[in-house]
Amino acid sequence: MEIRKVGVIGCGLMGGGIAQTCAQSGYTTVVREVNQELLDKGLARIEAAWQKMESKGKLTTQQAAETREHLRGTINLEDLADCDVIIEAVIENMEEKLRLYPALDRLLKPEALLLSNTSSLSVTQMGAVTKRPGKVAGLHFFNPAPVMQLVEIVRTISTSDETIETVQQFARSLGKTPVLAKDTAGFIVNFLLIPYLISAVRMLENGVASRDDIDTAMKLGCGYPMGPFTLLDYVGLDTTLWAAEAIYDEYKDPLYAPPPLLRRMVQSGYYGKKSGKGFYDYQ
Ligand code: 3HC
Repeated sequence: MEIRKVGVIGCGLMGGGIAQTCAQSGYTTVVREVNQELLDKGLARIEAAWQKMESKGKLTTQQAAETREHLRGTINLEDLADCDVIIEAVIENMEEKLRLYPALDRLLKPEALLLSNTSSLSVTQMGAVTKRPGKVAGLHFFNPAPVMQLVEIVRTISTSDETIETVQQFARSLGKTPVLAKDTAGFIVNFLLIPYLISAVRMLENGVASRDDIDTAMKLGCGYPMGPFTLLDYVGLDTTLWAAEAIYDEYKDPLYAPPPLLRRMVQSGYYGKKSGKGFYDYQ
C-alpha cells in the first residue's frame, strides 16, 4: 500500500514533532488539535524548529518553503478523511482513545492504517473498538521526534503481516530505525527506562544524593546525554507517571510503582519543561 497523505492527531510535544518529521520527509501532512489555541501553539513550535534548522543551514530556503507546503493544521477531524495513515498522539488516556478510534474507523477509507504513538497503553484495546483491527498497530516515537532515530512498531495479536511490513517501510522513509515489539505495557524502551527514571526519584526522596549530583553522576558516569531529572522534565512528569501506572497495572511489579514525589509533583502541575517547572525551573 502506498502512503501519500498522513494525518497526525494531537499537536503537542509528540504529535507536533511527528507531524514535523512527516512533513520534512515529503508527506502531505494534516495535523489536528482540539482547538485553535492549542493548534496555533503546536504549529508555532514546529515553525520555530524549521527556522532554527534554516539558520543552521540544515534546510535551504527552498527546502524550508517546500516543507511548510507539506503541513496543514486543522481542528476538524473530517479533514483527515482521505489520509492513508493516521498517527494518533493524543493524551495518554484510554477513555479518550476509545472514543476516538471508532470515530476514526467510521471516517477513514477501509484500507487506511491507524497507528498509535502510545507509550504504554494497550494498542490491542484500541484496535478492538474498530472494524479494522488488522490495520491497527503502534508506532512509538521518542522525544524529540524529529531527532531521535528510533521508532518502536507495536504488533497486537490482530495486526496483519501486511500492516507491519507497510509500517516498517513507512518508518524507514521517515529516516527512522524501526524495532518490533509485542503489545505489552512499556514495549521495549519504557519497560527499561521507566524503572531507571522512577528509581532516581526514589533516591531523591530518600535523600541518597541531590538532584544535581544524580544528574551529573549519570551524565558523566554513564555518558548519557541527560541525567534522569533533566530527562524527566524533558519527557514530562505526567507522561512518565502515566507510563509507570500503565506498566504497574499490567504486571503489579513494585519496580514500576510510581513514587509519591512524582505523583505529588504531577498533582501540583509540575509537568517539567512544558509547564515551566518540574525538577528544574524553566520560568
Ligand atoms: N527539530 C529539529 N531539530 C531539533 C529539534 C527539533 N524539534 N530539537 C532539537 N533538534 C536538533 C538541534 O537543533 C541540534 O542540532 P545540531 O546538532 O545540528 O546543532 C540537535 O538536535 C541537538 O540539539 P541541541 O544542540 O539543542 O542539544 P543536545 O546536543 O543536548 O541534544 C537531545 C538534545 C537530542 C535532546 C539530547 O540531549 C538527547 O538525546 N537527550 C535524550 C533524549 C531522550 O532520551 N529521549 C527519549 C525519551 S523517552 C521517550 O520519549 C519515550 C516516551 O514514551 C516517554
